[in-house]
Amino acid sequence: MCMERFMPEALTDKVILITGGGTGLGKAMALRFGELGAKIAIIGRRLEVLEQTAKELESQGIPVIFRGCDVRDSDRVAQVMSEIWEEYGQLDVLVNNAAGNFISPTERLSPRAVDAVINIVLHGSLYCTMEAGKRWIAEGTGGTVLNIVASYAWTGSAFVVPSAVAKAGVLAMTRSLAVEWARYHIRQVAIAPGPFPTEGAWARLAPTPEIAASMGDRVPLGRTGQPEELANLAAYLISDYASFINGEVVTVDGGEWLNGAGEFNSLTQLTADDWDRIAALIPRRKKPS
Ligand code: HXC
Ligand code: NAP
Repeated sequence: MCMERFMPEALTDKVILITGGGTGLGKAMALRFGELGAKIAIIGRRLEVLEQTAKELESQGIPVIFRGCDVRDSDRVAQVMSEIWEEYGQLDVLVNNAAGNFISPTERLSPRAVDAVINIVLHGSLYCTMEAGKRWIAEGTGGTVLNIVASYAWTGSAFVVPSAVAKAGVLAMTRSLAVEWARYHIRQVAIAPGPFPTEGAWARLAPTPEIAASMGDRVPLGRTGQPEELANLAAYLISDYASFINGEVVTVDGGEWLNGAGEFNSLTQLTADDWDRIAALIPRRKKPS
């Protein structure tokens, strides 16, 4: 079923800012939100990328503005937030989606590499949230923040330590502000995606054919995700249909993180014959005759 029929007019006239909305999952969300009636603002560092995405959105009749903005620059974030408010007259939803990440043994990282990732993901999300939040509080309008994290925000993960640390912080922000800002009618929600083969992520996290080929292997559903699957969930979570969801993180990973967590999950590899042999080996109490 197409989303427009499932949740007709779910986002009509909502103004939605998506950080990192020029590419990958951010772009997929911009398209889906626009199809559901939203007015879109996208920001990122590369103007030419944003412009190209804006053209695609406009060609589908979706209102869009874009601004070059490094989310690590708090002054620029404040300026861009004001410009979006002036242009559209309001903001209803902020999606903290911009991220930096790459795989590396932690002992090889320079301090600048650590800062690059943590400043984009953690500081950038906090700067954007604060700039939106203080305007929502001043105007008494309320609003919604959607944070894109990762399931390793709670499990941690080897080889992406700055990202795991930062995403854990963003999850803590989600849960903290869910309580602190509820009185202002500001909701906080988060999505934890599993593997979605976007260009930006795969170039930095799956740079060899072997790693890329293995990315779906841990997923019980046997595949990686499609951006529309995340965008559909995001559309629901920021819509009024989800108006009582606050402080929650929803995982969209085909079961991946649970697969890594369960003690005996690797036994999914066994065949029916294997199970017959195993059952015969396990001692059972004889029933009294
Ligand atoms: C080691 C590296 C490195 C690498 C950069 N650095 N890449 N160190 N291995 N592969 C170091 C640099 O040498 C430098 O340190 C420092 O990091 C900053 O690098 P810059 O290139 O100057 O930084 P900047 O231009 O700010 O770029 C930030 C970035 C880059 C994070 C390094 O990758 C980027 O722009 N990423 C944005 C897009 C992205 O990452 N998308 C993926 C999101 S996916 P020195 O000391 O040499 O100066 C995701 C979740 C995936 O987040 C989960 C999958 C399941
Ligand atoms: P992506 O295409 O690389 O998206 C990252 C976006 O962030 C880009 O548009 C990038 O644009 C922007 N960005 C990076 N640094 C920025 C900065 N300093 N200021 C402003 N914008 C910045 O990767 P993606 O896969 O779509 O990732 C989107 C989100 O999903 C991220 O939060 C990521 O952590 C999360 N996620 C993805 C996966 C996955 O498998 N793909 C899994 C778990 C979580 P510029 O380079 O032009 O600035």
